[in-house]
Amino acid sequence: MQKNILLIGGSYGIGASIAAKLKENHNVIIASRSNVNIPNGITHLTFDALKDDIKTLDLPEKIDGLVYCPGSINLKPFKMMSHESFIQDMELNFHSLVRVVHGLLPKLKNADQASLVFFSTVAVKVGMPFHTSVSASKGAIEGFAKAFAAEYAPNFRVNVIAPSLTDSPLASKLLNNDAKKEKMAERHPLKKVGTTDDIASMAAFLLNDESQWITGQVFGVDGGLSTLNVN
Ligand SMILES: NC(=O)c1ccc[n+]([C@@H]2O[C@H](COP(=O)([O-])OP(=O)(O)OC[C@H]3O[C@@H](n4cnc5c(N)ncnc54)[C@H](OP(=O)(O)O)[C@@H]3O)[C@@H](O)[C@H]2O)c1
Repeated sequence: MQKNILLIGGSYGIGASIAAKLKENHNVIIASRSNVNIPNGITHLTFDALKDDIKTLDLPEKIDGLVYCPGSINLKPFKMMSHESFIQDMELNFHSLVRVVHGLLPKLKNADQASLVFFSTVAVKVGMPFHTSVSASKGAIEGFAKAFAAEYAPNFRVNVIAPSLTDSPLASKLLNNDAKKEKMAERHPLKKVGTTDDIASMAAFLLNDESQWITGQVFGVDGGLSTLNVN
């Protein structure tokens, strides 16, 4: 069955790979600030999750799938991490997500069973230095997602993907030469960093009906980093 899938973000990065996987069989709408890379067959709506009200967008009356992609990788020692940075990370990763979900409730309720997919990070499960701000804001998403999944079951399914380092524009500073890529790959039991496709495959699965008995979960898609110690 064709679904209306709304991606907040998707002009590049993991969201663009999700759109590429779904566009053949579903009506995919990308709401993001820029529209340079939007493939044919996908609707783009200009939207800034930090500022704009999702209710003002021209969206279908029924939304079957929602993915919230905006996120940050703001890594610094805690003593250098200003309180303002914590607020900014919380605003983009968490508060804007909550505003979007609030605004879309009536349209999500019109679906037989809406599927919502959010992004956390491997650094919530595995404590990592310099990650205090991003881990705090992504941890908020994990807590929210489980409570929200419980409150809206069986009408909505709500799941979280917690990736490790994935080669997207967001991670470009950490992967901008071969030496960095090799070092980062070496940290993972599967000896590579993620591709946007690796993460998008899990998102596409969670959005379609093959995952219809799965809700309230946090899935590590992380090359084994969060669970295996092979060194
Ligand atoms: N890449 C990694 O290593 C990694 C690791 C762990 C977790 N994650 C999480 O996975 C998610 C996706 O990451 P990614 O690597 O694909 O990020 P990305 O490369 O930065 O892509 C983010 C997407 O979101 C859109 N976006 C950003 N800010 C927005 C805003 N204010 N309003 C609307 N759209 C906005 C961007 O489009 P526009 O610029 O056009 O708005 C873009 O399409 C994020 O939540 C991230 O925290 C990523």
